[in-house]
This record gives sequence, structure tokens and C-alpha cells, in this order.
Amino acid sequence: MIVLGIETSCDETAVSIIEVKSPTEIKVRGNVVSSQVKLHAEFGGVVPNLAAREHVKNINAVFESALSTAGIRDFKKEIDLIAVTHGPGLGPALLVGITFAKTLAMTHEKPLIGASHMKGHIFSNWLNEDFMEPQFPIMNLLVSGGHTELILMSNYEDFKLIGETMDDAVGEAFDKVARLLGLGYPGGPEISRLAEKGDAKHFPLPRPMLHSKDFNFSFSGLKTAVLYLLRDLKEQNVEIDEQTKSDISASFQEACVDVLVQKTIQASIKHKASAILLSGGVSANTLLRASLKESAEKAGINFSCPPMKYTTDNAVMIALAGYFASLDKNQNTNWEMVDMDANLSF
Ligand code: KG4
Ligand code: ZN
Repeated sequence: MIVLGIETSCDETAVSIIEVKSPTEIKVRGNVVSSQVKLHAEFGGVVPNLAAREHVKNINAVFESALSTAGIRDFKKEIDLIAVTHGPGLGPALLVGITFAKTLAMTHEKPLIGASHMKGHIFSNWLNEDFMEPQFPIMNLLVSGGHTELILMSNYEDFKLIGETMDDAVGEAFDKVARLLGLGYPGGPEISRLAEKGDAKHFPLPRPMLHSKDFNFSFSGLKTAVLYLLRDLKEQNVEIDEQTKSDISASFQEACVDVLVQKTIQASIKHKASAILLSGGVSANTLLRASLKESAEKAGINFSCPPMKYTTDNAVMIALAGYFASLDKNQNTNWEMVDMDANLSF
């Protein structure tokens, strides 16, 4: 089956073409991502209408480039299914991809599936070369700029929310703390880069909700703790130099990772998960990848994280989510039935 994927939920315009023989035999034939990160950087976050305008400008070129790298000459003959992100995401941005996908499906008389961006992140794990067909149930830790969720997957169609953040997503907290430290956007990569040179024990920070009896998270208090720490340091005339920023980054990163890892392991044991899958933009964080792997292995649970290049938003994961959705016999594939759902849970 050859699937075309389209992603415009946030600040990446992306189109992919994948060839799927079975759930573990997936070939990526085309993968084009046009990032708007630089454009939004000056605003410190993604501006929805600006994102939509850029998607409109770029989507056709991204589409043409994906087709040509995949060697697709006859769209109608070669493409079996189109999948487009229909949520969650920014409304104006999502609409660009959906309209583009519907037009393609209508003119070429192709089946169209509205795919979940969240399931896409989860399925990015299937892109690992050595990925084994998983034994369900699986515990997913999905960490991005908009979400921090523990999702129990009992089969390819059954996803259940086990826990989530009560306030900021962990990626959002990385972005906000980066801004407090005067670093660039997005903040996650900047903080983890500085953290490598920092001492995580120099400025101890709290572990919010570590001992709460549920599997929920909270990260806004941690961001406020960094704000107060910076205020106190300034009052004491301590210079916020590169080393101080590195120590704060290391401490903040370790606090986030500690809570994420401990709660994921507890939830996995409680729900008898055979594997833990990490996904979402924050899954690019090397400390999180290494710590969760180590703790999962200690607990006798398999662990996987997506290949680095598929951790952030892309359309390969969307084509995959579309493919897995198509395995469900009840899945509607009529383009007229695809609607935007900006608040889709997963
Ligand atoms: O999944 P994604 O690309 O977009 C959303 O759907 O939100 O995730 C983007 C988020 C940003 O908040 C970014 O700061 C964070 O992922 N991120 C990281 C790292 N790389 C990206 N956070 C921590 N450490 C990283 N290395
Ligand atoms: Zn995402």
C-alpha cells in the first residue's frame, strides 16, 4: 500500500510518501518538511494565522518535491490512500492541509483518512529499523510542545488516557524556561545543549506531583521556581553567566526527566505494559531517552523511542497513522467525511 501523508497542524508544512507491506515493513519513499521555526522565533511561539499563511505559500512545492523524491509519476495509479492531520492543532493551520488533501482526494478519486497528530507521534516508533511487532498493552509517554500524556494502547484502535499535565506541557515549560534564560526558540534543544555543561545539583528544583497518587503531571510550578531562582540570584548580585544558565538548565531538565520517568514506570507496572514507547518533540531529549530506557530495562519492560529525525513534526508519522487507521474495517475513507477537530484528544 502506498500512502501519501500531509501535516500542517503547527509550524511545519510536511508531505510524505510511504510504502507499507506490513506493520513492521515500512519504507519511507518521500519525506519533505518545510519548517517555519525561524519565522515564529521572533514572537517566542507559533502565531496561528502566520503559520496558516506560510502553509498556503509552501504546500504545493512541498507536495511536488515529495512526489519527485518518491519517484511518483502517475498519482492516480500509484497512490492508494491519502492521510491528513485533522487534529489536534491550530485551526487555521490544520485547515490548509485538510483543504489540500480533500482537493487531491476529490480530483483523483482517492480514499482519504483524517489522521490524529498524536497517534502519528506514537507510530513514529514503528519507523525504527529493528522495531518488533509489539505485545499489547503498550504504555506511551507522549511529550511535545502541546501535550504531556500517558496513553495506554491495548491494540491498534484502542487508546486510553491514563494521565496528563494539569497545566503546561513539558515542551512548553522548556520553551518558557528558555525564554527566562534569554535563549532562543524552540527552547528544548537550547536547554539540553546548555545542560550538558551544567551541574544539575547546583540549584536544586522541585519535582512537582512526584508523589501524587495519580499519573498526572504539572510543569508550570517548575517554570515559576526558575523565575524565583533568577530573581533571587539577581538580588544577590550573582551574574547570570553561561555557567549559571547551564546549571539552571541541567537542574530544570533533570527535574522534568525525574518526574516523567518515575510516573511512566509506575503507570506501566500498574497496567502491566509489556513495552514503553516514548514519542513527541521532547522525545529528542537525550537525557529523557537514556533515563527512561534504563529504568524500563530495570523494570523488565521493553523500551523504544523514535529515530531522532522523526521526533519532531513530520508527515511520515501521519501517513503511518492513516495506514493503521485503514486497517479498521469501520474506518470511513470518503473525503467528504473528513472534518477538522482542533481539540481532538488523541
Ligand atoms: O512534537 P513537536 O515537534 O510539536 C508539537 O506538536 O508540539 O514538539 C515541539 C516541542 C517544543 O516545545 C520543543 O522545545 C521540544 O519539543 N523539544 C525538546 C527538545 N527538542 C525539541 N525538548 C527538550 N529537549 C529537546 N532536545
Ligand atoms: Zn507534534
